[in-house]
Amino acid sequence: MSAQAALATLQGKHIVLGVSGGIAAYKSALLARLLKKAGADIKVVMTQGAHAFITPLTFQALTGNTVHDTLLDADAEAGMGHIELARWADLILIAPATANVIARLAHGHADDLLTTICLASPAPKRLAPAMNQQMWANPIVSANIERLTTFGWELLGPDDGEQACGDIGSGRMLEPEAIVARLLDDTSPSRQISHHNHSGTKVVITAGPTREALDPVRYISNYSSGKMGYALAAAAHAAGAHVTLVSGPVQLMPPAGVKVINVTSAEQMLSAARSESRNADIFISSAAVADFRPQHVAEHKIKKGSDNTTILELIKNPDIVATIAGEYSSLFCVGFAAETQSLLENAGSKLVRKKLDMIVANQVGEGLAFDQDSNAVTLIWHDAQQKLQQRAFPMQPKPQLAHQLIDAIFAHYQAHQDTPSVSVN
Ligand code: CTP
Repeated sequence: MSAQAALATLQGKHIVLGVSGGIAAYKSALLARLLKKAGADIKVVMTQGAHAFITPLTFQALTGNTVHDTLLDADAEAGMGHIELARWADLILIAPATANVIARLAHGHADDLLTTICLASPAPKRLAPAMNQQMWANPIVSANIERLTTFGWELLGPDDGEQACGDIGSGRMLEPEAIVARLLDDTSPSRQISHHNHSGTKVVITAGPTREALDPVRYISNYSSGKMGYALAAAAHAAGAHVTLVSGPVQLMPPAGVKVINVTSAEQMLSAARSESRNADIFISSAAVADFRPQHVAEHKIKKGSDNTTILELIKNPDIVATIAGEYSSLFCVGFAAETQSLLENAGSKLVRKKLDMIVANQVGEGLAFDQDSNAVTLIWHDAQQKLQQRAFPMQPKPQLAHQLIDAIFAHYQAHQDTPSVSVN
């Protein structure tokens, strides 16, 4: 799409621009200007903290609209109150979103105008975080972001680089031009069509580890947290799909709107995945399935005895994704490849061996991927000429990565459905 045609796609859109109290608030002035230039009608809602960094007058002059900042203001409520603003919005964009506003939104607070509008509005919601890199790396912030993405919020950024406080790292607000580009991308016909088309798509996703019992109190398992699979389920749901998550034991909240089937062992996971995949369109196997299970499960707790060594007899577990891909030939199957070495080579051969449509190659070990909040992956597939193609996704929070992976997987699935010989990059 040409830049001019792209700009037209924000024409007449009602955007509530939430501005919270961070140094990046000065960039929101340029953001408001760019959005207005792209044809959007902007109503700015400022938090109390934002006033320390920028004045309402600046936004009023740039947008031509009154700035809103008070929840219980009799005059404002008589003009355009919080419910009207919530109904008016086609999109809510918070830029900058501070750690504080992210925490309040993640926990459903309605203690100022901005958070109340967010709760009261069905409009799509985006946030552009801006904070110090240590704050952005804090697991409490990551958990709040993850929670918001499970409720359909989409992240724009943050960027890496030098920060106002002198630190270098991730946490800078995405530049206004990049934010506008992302919004234009959201409204591009291809994305709208793909969202529309996926409203009836059924997706089954496996996630987390499996546990293979040794005796009534012990098991064999791995470090998988399930975060990637849960983030994929939330992203697929946000894209309009019907999602079933077959989950091993994890410490995560079920994503809103997703059917979750809890299982423990690989055999249970296969059985649930098999019956759920019968009417499905896409199968995504992100679970870290234990490759082996004990040959015999002891009825009682195994005693250690007097020997210094012991031998456990293990038997191979079924390969869930290979079984499902073999049984349902029309199902679009996506696997993960967890590798500690020769990433692309090993992942490519797993793609072929397991008869998958796509594989997400994931470097693991040395603190990477497993039980982490961020991940970097390479998506691999065969094009129409059977040539191996790949697309790298840089290190980023798993919820954000999940949205990008789902977009790419759905686009390939769509191309596969429309014309099996067409490939998408
Ligand atoms: N997988 C599966 N069932 C298994 C093992 C793996 O469904 N019993 C799936 C995983 O969910 C993933 C893909 O197969 O989508 C690759 O998993 P991975 O652990 O990387 O590979 P393995 O097949 O186990 O091969 P290896 O351990 O030899 O690397």
